[in-house]
Amino acid sequence: MRPPTKEEFDQLREKTLAARESAYCPYSKFRVGACLLTTSGSFITGANVENASYPAGICAERTALVKAITEGHKDFVCIAVATDINPAASPCGICRQTMREFCDVGMPVYMFTPDGKSEVMKLDELLPRSFGPDDLPK
Ligand code: THU
Repeated sequence: MRPPTKEEFDQLREKTLAARESAYCPYSKFRVGACLLTTSGSFITGANVENASYPAGICAERTALVKAITEGHKDFVCIAVATDINPAASPCGICRQTMREFCDVGMPVYMFTPDGKSEVMKLDELLPRSFGPDDLPK
């Protein structure tokens, strides 16, 4: 588990903020961008994609995770999320649980404001005493 380098962090901020532009959010008008950094240095972005049948929508963080997993990425340095609000928004409960499936509980989750300021919390702080893959009987 390593933190992002300064160069990686700068790119992470840029890509996360830019990812908001791909949001499809005609109902909420609430743009969300997300970006995962893999241990091999790849950046995988995502945005929220809503649906006229509201529950069928998907959050930005899960879009990024689903893209990453289906493209074969398994090891992540961090994830970041950005919205158009200040203070920064934090990932919803379903996204936290989805992260829990694929990411180390010590992984940093960065939350950006529109002007690029960030807060960071570990996944374990956002989702304490979580239920994960190892908790199921073998
Ligand atoms: N949303 C995200 O993309 N990520 C979150 O963690 C919270 C909420 C999206 C879902 C919906 O498209 C919009 O924000 C309003 O809830």
